[in-house]
Amino acid sequence: MPGAVIVGMQWGDEGKGRFTDYLAKEAALCVRYQGGHNAGHTIIVDGEVFKLQLVPSGVLYPWVTPVIGNGVVVDPAVLIEELDMLERRGVDTRRIRLSGNAHLIMPYHQELDRVSERYLGKNKLGTTKRGIGPAYGDKAWRVGLRVQDLLDPKIFRAKLDLALREKNGVLTKVYNRLPLDANEITDRYMSYVERLAPLIDDTVHLVHEALDAQQWVLFEGAQATFLDLDHGTYPYVTSSNPIAGGVCTGAGVGPRAIERIVGIVKAYTTRVGSGPFPTELPEGDPVGDLLVERGGEFGTNTGRRRRTGWLDLVMLRHAVRLNTATELAVTKLDVLSPFDEIKVCVAYEGDDGTRYEHVPYHQSVLHHVRPVYETLPGWGSDIEAVARLEDLPGAARDYVRYVEEFAGVPVTFVSVGPARDQTVVLPRAA
Ligand code: IMP
Repeated sequence: MPGAVIVGMQWGDEGKGRFTDYLAKEAALCVRYQGGHNAGHTIIVDGEVFKLQLVPSGVLYPWVTPVIGNGVVVDPAVLIEELDMLERRGVDTRRIRLSGNAHLIMPYHQELDRVSERYLGKNKLGTTKRGIGPAYGDKAWRVGLRVQDLLDPKIFRAKLDLALREKNGVLTKVYNRLPLDANEITDRYMSYVERLAPLIDDTVHLVHEALDAQQWVLFEGAQATFLDLDHGTYPYVTSSNPIAGGVCTGAGVGPRAIERIVGIVKAYTTRVGSGPFPTELPEGDPVGDLLVERGGEFGTNTGRRRRTGWLDLVMLRHAVRLNTATELAVTKLDVLSPFDEIKVCVAYEGDDGTRYEHVPYHQSVLHHVRPVYETLPGWGSDIEAVARLEDLPGAARDYVRYVEEFAGVPVTFVSVGPARDQTVVLPRAA
């Protein structure tokens, strides 16, 4: 059964959208399995920039059915805005399928995300304030509203009243905010129904029909391995499971449905929000500034400047394990071109001098480790126009080889610029 997964190997923003788009051309279905509009995927086609938050990247191919799976949390207003944007630009959005089992992000989720972050003060997580954590929290707490509830106003209202009783108590008594109005929320959400109802479907059934017919199904991860709720740098993580295993719950397939797991890794590291980051360069470091400038390292969604550092191979090797990645795609290699020397982190050293070859499980250790670097030579020339592996400078090829040897899986793609065609396909991926 031919399923393939695209998954980020770091803290997000590795350039997954463009690879999903690249691989989607072979697929029948392109399925988002977790996250919500905290994601921001940028795809550039013929110089035209598309920024997607909820709609799967495969939408730009007319033969692909884009699917928003049950594991996603959906803000209907954001989805409709995105549909409108795509329609205005000539993309037919009627093919999009939306799982009736996906959970809805409600206005109180966004409000609680905002106020609880403020409440945490210096301990804040640095969330995107889109209501993601509170929506998944309600799902686990079994008081969430789902997309299918939009189709039954009575059930919608009954569930909303139940939820609001508790939410308004918390908002007014704990956070000193005004209560939210059930009528207003109901009217607003019911106004979305006409637009969304034709898209709502049994997406698990669709996925299995495609797999049974031996069609490729591409599962598109949002966020990344070290933002995973279980395996990331908890609590500085998102509230879903971006790792490949998340496909099983978030799309309704078993592990045997997945054949190919493509890990996307940026040639250096970035992170937004709070949390440990062993190779982080201090603010004002000229290397970090150059990475931000050349890599355009500002959030697609929030505009926040990303924290930057050299590539962390210890984390990469761990990510390969957590995802059982079958291969890697290295992105933004061109950003490293001006550097005479390029560092990669090959181990950590703890406060007491202990050397760690693996990511330490204990957060207090991880917070304090120092990176141990290997220095590799730079290539000193532009590579944006390179289309074949053999045309990459020797030092750039060596860098890629070093990464794959350390990670233990082959690199099958290298991106050398933001456009769809700035992708070097390595021979074994052909
Ligand atoms: P949340 O997902 O909004 O709850 O945010 C939790 C953490 O995940 C924060 O550190 C965010 O910056 C981070 N995060 C969420 N979505 C993305 C993303 O698409 N790219 C990078 N970081 C993200």
